[in-house]
Amino acid sequence: MTGLRRLKHLCLIGLLSKVAVGITATVIFMDTKVQAQETVKKKQAKSGYDYLEKPTRRIQDDDFANPGFFFVEAGSELWRKTVGVTEKSCAYCHGEAAKTMREAATRYPAWNSVLGRVINLEQRINHCRVRHMKARPLTYESDELLSLTTWVRHQSRGMPVKVDISGLAAPAFSRGKAFWFRPRGLFDVSCSQCHDDKAGLRLRAEIVSEGQTNGFPAYKLKWQKIGSSHRQFRRCNQLARSIPYAFGSQTYVDLELFLAWRGRGLKIETPAVRP
Ligand code: HEC
Ligand code: HEC
Repeated sequence: MTGLRRLKHLCLIGLLSKVAVGITATVIFMDTKVQAQETVKKKQAKSGYDYLEKPTRRIQDDDFANPGFFFVEAGSELWRKTVGVTEKSCAYCHGEAAKTMREAATRYPAWNSVLGRVINLEQRINHCRVRHMKARPLTYESDELLSLTTWVRHQSRGMPVKVDISGLAAPAFSRGKAFWFRPRGLFDVSCSQCHDDKAGLRLRAEIVSEGQTNGFPAYKLKWQKIGSSHRQFRRCNQLARSIPYAFGSQTYVDLELFLAWRGRGLKIETPAVRP
């Protein structure tokens, strides 16, 4: 092990020192080289919900207590609001979201032939605004875009994620997968090393889950707000002392596609509640 690698290793042990006591923590991280194999485990995916402590679960279980529902309601209002020079609303073309948007979110991210790339739900909504409503695209992570995305995804709550990674979407999927497994940043750690290998263990005060995206946009108690999966990716990049990518960047959309596939079959929980 080179000096620099050893330093990174020690940093990571330091970062995760409260995961387990003494020798266990060391053992957990001494085998990281073996774990870097690019295999996606075939075991049944588990939602972040399964890793929640009881009080947080209770908030998610109760739609009236779940603060994410403020965004669902705001989204339902925006759905009916006319915008742009065309003075059309989403409802003008799509009618009742409960019918027309049922299951739509289970397929995203997806290849879009007009744009010639894989796009996520936020980008699909903005595509409608620009192309069909002649309105400006909403800023990524703005309250408006978060609300509309939450509203649309909520119409698929309880339905299994089933993205298409074949054909033209295949290269984006491969890039997302490579991103997940590649160690990066000061700690030289990959997404997989935390979320495939350490799921169920504690990192400081948090229980590490599998890093699934079925609950997003999710209400994070820490943020006191609903946030997109890209906000979570940015936070995780920062946690591992690596540079975060921009909201809506193709790198994160590719990653989102890979993660949706990795968590295929998991039921959409939007808006989930997370610590
Ligand atoms: C140092 C460990 C660590 C690394 C590396 C890491 N994460 Fe996380 N991640 C966490 C912790 C801690 C949480 C919050 C608790 C939880 O849900 O796992 C989290 C949460 C998440 C969640 C939310 C899960 C849910 O159900 O709410 C996603 C998605 C996620 N991470 C994706 C990623 C991605 C993508 C990467 C790589 C860019 C990554 N993580 C790298 C520790 C890590
Ligand atoms: C002028 C009509 C029109 C308006 C207004 C409009 N859309 Fe669309 N939307 C479309 C068309 C056309 C499609 C493409 C349908 C297809 O691909 O089969 C579409 C597709 C979508 C999809 C993808 C559905 C799927 O099953 O893949 C979503 C999500 C969506 N729109 C959301 C919205 C939202 C949110 C708004 C309001 C901000 C909106 N749309 C406004 C015409 C419109």
